[in-house]
This record gives sequence, C-alpha cells and structure tokens, in this order.
Amino acid sequence: MRIAVVGTGYVGLVTGTCFAETGNHVTCVDIDERKVNKLRSGKITIYEPGLDVLFERNIKQKRLEFTTDLAEGIKGAEIIFLALPTPPGEDGSADLKYILKVADDLGPLLDKYTIIVDKSTVPVGTAEKVRDRIAANATVEFDVVSNPEFLREGVAVEDFMKPDRVVIGTESAKARKKMEQLYAPLVRQGNPVIFMDERSAELTKYAANSFLATKITFMNEIANLCELLGADVDAVRRGVGTDSRIGKRFLFAGIGYGGSCFPKDVQALARSSDDVNYDFKILDAVMDVNQQQKTKLIPQVKEYFDGDLAGKTIAIWGLSFKPYTDDIREAPALYNIEELLAAGAKVKAYDPEGMENVREIMGDRISMCENMYDCIDGCDALMIMTEWPVFRTPEFDQLSEKLSNKVIFDGRNLYEPEQMKELGYTYVSIGRQT
Ligand code: UGA
Repeated sequence: MRIAVVGTGYVGLVTGTCFAETGNHVTCVDIDERKVNKLRSGKITIYEPGLDVLFERNIKQKRLEFTTDLAEGIKGAEIIFLALPTPPGEDGSADLKYILKVADDLGPLLDKYTIIVDKSTVPVGTAEKVRDRIAANATVEFDVVSNPEFLREGVAVEDFMKPDRVVIGTESAKARKKMEQLYAPLVRQGNPVIFMDERSAELTKYAANSFLATKITFMNEIANLCELLGADVDAVRRGVGTDSRIGKRFLFAGIGYGGSCFPKDVQALARSSDDVNYDFKILDAVMDVNQQQKTKLIPQVKEYFDGDLAGKTIAIWGLSFKPYTDDIREAPALYNIEELLAAGAKVKAYDPEGMENVREIMGDRISMCENMYDCIDGCDALMIMTEWPVFRTPEFDQLSEKLSNKVIFDGRNLYEPEQMKELGYTYVSIGRQT
C-alpha cells in the first residue's frame, strides 16, 4: 500500500518507519527542511530503542522516503496519516492550528478517494473539523478516520508492532476495510482491532492516558499516606496489584508522572469537560497532586541541611522523564533543579540520554558530568530522579567515598531501606519508612 505520514516528529517517524517495515511504501512529509535533509541522509532524529535498525533497513529498501513537499509526498497515497503536534494552548486545551492548516492544504491536492487518518491526540470533534476543512476544497470522495496511538516512549517500536489493541473510529465501510488490511500484519496474534464511531475513538485516547495518570497518582497519595501511617508502599502495591481487577502495572509510586503525554492529555480532557460544563473533579485532583508530588523531596533536603542550601552542591541522577528516552518534557528533575538553584545550591547532573536537551534550556546554570560517579564527586547529597537501570546497582563503595555526606533522596525507590541503613546512609524515598 502507498502511505503518506504528515508530520515527522516522534509519532510520525515511528508510524512511518513501522508501516514501511510491514511492506508499505511510506513517504513522510515535514515542513522542517533541516530535519528532512537529515532523515534523507539516513540519520535518525529521535532516540528510540530499535527504531534505528528498522529506519536504516527501510531507507535502503526504498520503502521509506522523506520530503518537505506535501503535494509530492501524498502523490498516489491511499492513506494519509496526520501526526502533527497539538500543543496545549493558553487555557490547556489542545491547539489544532497545525492539523487544520494541513487539512486546508490537502483538499485541493486529493485526486482520488483517500483516507485521512488523525493519528495525533486530538479532542473529541476534531475529525469532524478536519472533514469540513478538507471538504471545503476537495473535488473527490474521502474519509476522515480517528486512529489514536498508544505508543510509550522507549518501547514505541514494540508497542507499534505488537499493539494490545488498535482503535479505529470510522463509520465508513470502505475506510474500515482498508484500515483492517493495513493493520492485519500487526494483529496476527489475535489482538483486537476495535472499530467504533470517531468521537468515541478520540475520547478513548484521553480516557486511557487520564486513567493511567490517575492510577499512578492514586498510588502516590497512598505512598504519602504510608509515610504518615508507618506503612510501606511497596508492600501495599504488591498487595493490591495482584488483584486482577486492579493489575500490577502503573502502580509505582514516585515523584510524579511527566512526559509530553500524560500532563498535556489530562489537562486537555479537563478543558474539554469544562467546555461542556462537566466538572470532572478527579482530573483536577490528579493534576494538583502531581504538581505537588514532583518536588515533594525538596523540603526534606532542606531539612537535612537545617534549612540552608546556600553553597551546597547536590548531585542529580536522572534528567529524562523516564528511562530509555532523552525526552525531558515535564520531567520532575527540571522542577527539582529549579528549586535547588533558587535555594542557592549548586547542581551537578548525569543522565545517560537527557543531558544534551537539558543543556539546551539550562545552559551553564548546572554542570553536566561524564558519568554517574563523577557526578557525585564532592557533592553534599544525591537526588535520584529517573529509574535508569544503571542507577539501580551502584558501587556503594565509590558512593561512600565520593559523596561528602552519606545521604540519598530517592524519588524512584531504587534501593532497599534496610540495606541503606546497614550501609550507614540517611535514605529518604517515597512512601517507605526510613
Ligand atoms: C504514555 C502512555 O503510556 C502511552 O500509552 C501513550 O500512547 C503515550 O503516553 C502518548 O499519549 O503518546 P509515555 O508518556 O511515553 O506514554 O510514558 P509512560 O511509560 O506511560 O510513563 C509516563 C509517566 O508516568 C513517566 O513519568 C513515568 O515515570 C510515570 N510512571 C509510570 C510512574 O510514576 N509510575 C508508574 O507506575 C508508571
């Protein structure tokens, strides 16, 4: 099948590359000339485990191409995916200007029946808007379909190639048949392709992300309560997670969820609820709690140093919002660093992938280190912000030698409190007794 993907950001590049891998001819379109040139010369623009291999293979096979020219990119395409950014506007609702602009441009370019697919996370009603904007200029028949993505950064290729489910919102039999055909190689193990109306498909994406954000936040509140009641959140997690109605995943307490999806989508769903005068109380609480949770260790750091961080140097392990990504959007580390700097502390940081991106926004306000041990050298305390596996089993001898004080503030519960006590550390984590 011939496919076009408009927007070659994270979702677009993964979608385009993976559909090329299943034998389709894919042209990715992006207005960013520098990006397109880089991709054309075989250089990948994002860090995503496993994607580079598929990317190189499909470029070599000439199944994956890139252009800045929309007309050229969609030539012959039976399906056009829109994977464009939907950044939060001033009030937190998703801004549709990029999607609607492409919809305007597409209308006059369509020369035969085409399926246009909303892949971006878009508020309920967007497919209708896209349809109207295309229809204003189109001379041929077309369908607009909603097909939300459920990719996690870091495991996006696996999520794409072996999805738990594929959600497709359309009431057109013609579009349904084509979409079924396109996804057939990815659901051979019997994972369902769930067809529904387009509004429900659009809402499914927000409901899934908001539910997961709520699940994490609920456990974060249980963790906060554990600290006050003398309980242990790890034990509680195991106790409740083994109930199959609840499930084991996404119950890990920590310093809050981040990333480009959960914060944005929870906020956008809250705004959509406001628009229809529905007071979605749980979402407001989730956003409140998560904001507080991100910097919940800071008062404990201050208390350890008797309220005065001036002149202290704090080491930060982990900058990305989660392991296996260089994405630092809404990363708890950033909020903590700002608070430490504001309190007069110096910050040294190490992250396996995220340092470049932080350097871009923070410049020399903090220093970046070659490795995790240089990072703690001469520091007064260590804070852990991301659960990269390399931080899970550090050489404690080196830690004790290099850190000026044996104190760790762990936002990801990487170590056993008992073991840390034996090693002589002051160890502060989330929802456990120190
Ligand atoms: C999320 C969803 O998981 C994807 O299904 C969805 O497609 C994607 O958003 C999107 O809308 O594009 P992602 O943001 O990549 O994916 O990351 P997750 O792995 O879901 O983690 C989100 C945040 O929750 C991270 O900050 C992580 O540290 C935190 N988290 C996760 C916890 O604090 N505890 C947990 O138990 C799990």
